[in-house]
Amino acid sequence: MNLNAVLRWTSLTILIVVIAIIVVTRFPAAVRSASGNTTSGKPWMNTKLSPDERADMVVKEMTLDEKISLLHGTGLEGLGPVSPLAVKSNGGAGYVVAIPRLGVPAIQMSDAAYGVRGSGENGRYSTALPDNLASAASWDLDAAYEYGALIARELRAQGYNMSLGGGVNLTREPRNGRTFEYMGEDPLLAGKMVGRVMTAEQAQHVIGDIKHFAVNDQESGRNAVNVNIDKRAMRESDLLAFEIGLRESNAAAVMCSYNRVHGDYACENQFLLTDVLKKDWNFKGFVVSDWEATHSAAKASAAGLDHEEPGEIFYGDTMKKLVESGKVPMAEVDDHVHRILRSMFATGVIDDPPQKSVVDVVGGFEVAQKIEEQSIVLLRNEHNLLPLDGTKVASIAVIGAHSDVGMLSGGGSAQVDPPGGNAIAPPGKGRTTWQAHIWFPTSPLKAIRAKAPTAKVQYDPGTDPASAAALAKSSDVAIVFAEQWESEGMDLDSLSLPNHQDDLIAKVAAANPHTVVVLETGSPVTMPWAGQVAGILEAWYPGSRGAEALANVVFGDVNPSAKLPITFPKSDADLPHPTVVKPPKESTTQDGDTEAWKKNAKGLPAFQVTYDEGLKVGYKWYDAERKEVLFPFGYGLSYTSYGYSNLKVTSGKSVRVSFKLANTGGRPGAEIAEVYAALPASTGEPPKRLVGWSKVTLGRGDSKEVTIEIDPWYLSIFNIERNAWQLLPGDYTFLVGTSSRDLPLKESIYIK
Ligand code: BGC
Repeated sequence: MNLNAVLRWTSLTILIVVIAIIVVTRFPAAVRSASGNTTSGKPWMNTKLSPDERADMVVKEMTLDEKISLLHGTGLEGLGPVSPLAVKSNGGAGYVVAIPRLGVPAIQMSDAAYGVRGSGENGRYSTALPDNLASAASWDLDAAYEYGALIARELRAQGYNMSLGGGVNLTREPRNGRTFEYMGEDPLLAGKMVGRVMTAEQAQHVIGDIKHFAVNDQESGRNAVNVNIDKRAMRESDLLAFEIGLRESNAAAVMCSYNRVHGDYACENQFLLTDVLKKDWNFKGFVVSDWEATHSAAKASAAGLDHEEPGEIFYGDTMKKLVESGKVPMAEVDDHVHRILRSMFATGVIDDPPQKSVVDVVGGFEVAQKIEEQSIVLLRNEHNLLPLDGTKVASIAVIGAHSDVGMLSGGGSAQVDPPGGNAIAPPGKGRTTWQAHIWFPTSPLKAIRAKAPTAKVQYDPGTDPASAAALAKSSDVAIVFAEQWESEGMDLDSLSLPNHQDDLIAKVAAANPHTVVVLETGSPVTMPWAGQVAGILEAWYPGSRGAEALANVVFGDVNPSAKLPITFPKSDADLPHPTVVKPPKESTTQDGDTEAWKKNAKGLPAFQVTYDEGLKVGYKWYDAERKEVLFPFGYGLSYTSYGYSNLKVTSGKSVRVSFKLANTGGRPGAEIAEVYAALPASTGEPPKRLVGWSKVTLGRGDSKEVTIEIDPWYLSIFNIERNAWQLLPGDYTFLVGTSSRDLPLKESIYIK
């Protein structure tokens, strides 16, 4: 090479290096995304672009096969055909393949209602938080955030990037076997709480999912039932909980439910998925079907279903053919794909993929215990029997519900697996199976012994009421544990405690006036013995550290502050419907039927459920019907007392409700102050609705001026003709106090 050629090559090399330096320093995102993906040829990896821009760019590059691959899962054992591609699943309920060519990672979905599911079969560990209804009993938005953050951390540690928790079906039917998975009977409380859980999950770069959309309020015949319900009632109650949850969190996914609504399956329901969710609420994320809740391709796609789970009965080859023949427009498919991709970009699962790691077991215990301490509701405390003084009590009888070894958990796809297996099974045995009754290894007996080290603490299983009563009689205090198991896939026949537990409690109470009942239930229960016992604590399904949290409440290390997110009626007869409507035989499939998925896919014959109580959900029903209840919505006692005074209500852009709250008792505590509004008679609303609350911590003798802003939306009604929320002019009465039936402060204002 002559000198000229050498010089030419040198200058060219220098030029290339200079250009490279400029590109790398000026446009780093074009070269490398936060996840380390090289972005040459992948301009959508530029994190400065909006999720929509990024999704659009990817969609433009995709082949039809790639698009179709995002529209469905790869199948799940027992629920129809499973694709060979499923081998790369992380072991969760849903797996959507990656498209490496485009830098699109797989979506690994796991159920995660009160913790990450499937630890047993996957050989992993996850924390069980108190159940979702319990968390709603805390009325604590910070606790809800911690709840979601813990779940998201553990999902990511296990390699998941999408959660399938977020149950927020409003409790119209408390005998629904999934009541423990939901957030109670009030749309504002439920919506705000689920919104915080979702916000926390998505902040950790996990796709959040709110479910089951909508009015999936009973499990019996869930694949066939057709729900009839007034549209205004639906907008103001069941759908409102979702609307608030989505507005608070921008949860990226919504799971449509199994049931039909007004004749159409929820997953092919134009009104629910398109008119309400995507148009009225401007939902930008994607709709995922519940597992086997898809019943068509073209109809579902046009109605707004974006993604089928768990397999590809409709959204695989069938969909591809429909697109190729022009029966499903490509634009519709592009919209589904865009929604899925934009959700992945928006939540950060592409830029910050999960790294498998060991979950923080001890940190999880701490969170679970703290949340349970804020969720245990003190329902009765005659003569201030509680808290017990661990240094003075000489003997305690601990009775029933396997309280020597564990505490109960809720079943179905929400089930979290206990470390070491089911506490009542031999160690190492008893991996969870569908609908097995699972007790977590958190022993009330041990926790109580630790708090009262000098007391004689004895256990009786409660199977023989006479022997339990004898032990109670010879003890200073009797603590009876009672339980009501529930699960997805079943409903309760009644709110009564099963297995003669009412009889056990009555006999123990007759033997010892210092009897405290601890309830481990996922729904309200009836309590024919309520007036005979000194104390009642609702502990719900309390999670990994239930016993420790409970002992802290029983012995006063923690002052209870939770309030009921659901009414406890006096009897089943007081509910809006005497029984849960059971499906006819042809509307169900039998356990073990290997063809069940085909029958479900085709659609089982419908049977009808009519929610003619309409707007009157939960406390609104009991208020409107003037029914006495056992314990009202919003009720919960404390070891101290609170005084309410000086109500002021002013109206501007929003309504401001101010009052003075004083701790009038002998201990520090936290009071959930509740604000209800009675709307003008012209609105035709039930007597009152919750419009705000504040959880206020007060030292002994302290008081605080509390101000709660009320969003006018929460005072509005849904006008069906205008398809809009409307604040009607008139007199609005604001009621403030400690429960929905104890509201000492009251003031009316005229709102224009
Ligand atoms: C449940 C969903 C769950 C899904 C995946 C269904 O049976 O209804 O809540 O997310 O299974 O396990």
